[in-house]
Amino acid sequence: MGIQVEGLHHVYGAPGWAHREALRGVDLAIADGERVAIMGPTGSGKSTLVQHFNGLLRPTRGRVEVDGIDLWAPGPDRDDRLAEARRRVGLVFQFPEQQLFAETVWDDIAFAPRNLGCDEAEVAARVERAMALVGLDPDLGRRSPFSLSGGQMRRVAIAGVLAMMPRVLVLDEPTAGLDPRGRQALVELLRRLHRESGIAVVLVSHDVDEVAAVAERVVLLRDGRIEADGPVEAVLADADLLARCRLTPPATVRLLDELARRGVPVNRARVDLDAAEAELVAAAPFLPAAPPVAGDGPRRRRGDRGPSGPASPPAPRDDGNRVPRREGSP
Ligand SMILES: Nc1ncnc2c1ncn2[C@@H]1O[C@H](COP(=O)(O)OP(=O)(O)OP(=O)(O)O)[C@@H](O)[C@H]1O
Ligand SMILES: [Mg+2]
Repeated sequence: MGIQVEGLHHVYGAPGWAHREALRGVDLAIADGERVAIMGPTGSGKSTLVQHFNGLLRPTRGRVEVDGIDLWAPGPDRDDRLAEARRRVGLVFQFPEQQLFAETVWDDIAFAPRNLGCDEAEVAARVERAMALVGLDPDLGRRSPFSLSGGQMRRVAIAGVLAMMPRVLVLDEPTAGLDPRGRQALVELLRRLHRESGIAVVLVSHDVDEVAAVAERVVLLRDGRIEADGPVEAVLADADLLARCRLTPPATVRLLDELARRGVPVNRARVDLDAAEAELVAAAPFLPAAPPVAGDGPRRRRGDRGPSGPASPPAPRDDGNRVPRREGSP
């Protein structure tokens, strides 16, 4: 069933003191197994929003449901409902490695299942499964988490959340502070996790290329409201919309855009690297000829139609992508 948010408002502080209306009426549903990115400028409310998904923050107004359980409805069982939401929705904070504390990697990952009251056999099974899911060598279990690299520490922190066996994994800027290889490895990890375990992934990110690689849907926040919510190909190819949220389209879209501008028939809304590559291969016969290399005899490339390039390139295909806007948005 997933997560359902209705009319969510969140106000920090009190009037006159750190008062800030961080969320101003958010309606959002995230289905089981979806891969959703939450993007938007600094201060737009992304972290505030995702901390409502597992009941960590309490709405000032509005409703949050996890698998049909209304987290904040009054009643004597509310603490049980909140505990259940925290089990079903695993939240990985920014710089989660700062929250590692146990003497060994194994104990750190075992913390949540022990806390849930699992017996030791079940704890062991969950720790092993979580380590395998994040690609940590079982031998690392005996090491101190503080003797690992930054990227490995982050995997330990993610494994600690996965050991609760949540149905939704929410990560708040999971690649922040990692080097390019560490970022790439984490993106691969999220793709594999989703593929192998079917878990829903909610990724808060500023990085359009990373989002293009991981998400199928993008929710754009601005000033505590949803500015757009749609398929990743539509949102990340809408340069005007992105500019309003201080983002630029991913490199794939910018490259295809440039080709479309030059009359090459490509669908510019191919955000994923593999899809963009396929688009380029299909458009190869229409690409202009490369200038001859000095000293090279006259040579034709496959698909080359002479020095002036294609005689009359077909019109760019209409990508037909429009981002569904929320009512009331400009
Ligand atoms: N504990 C707090 N007390 C008061 N105001 C807060 C608190 N936490 C966040 N805010 C304010 O609420 C607004 C939304 O903050 P939030 O952290 O959700 O934004 P964000 O989109 O995650 O930003 P970033 O991209 O910088 O992480 C901001 O104006 C922020 O200053
Ligand atoms: Mg944030």
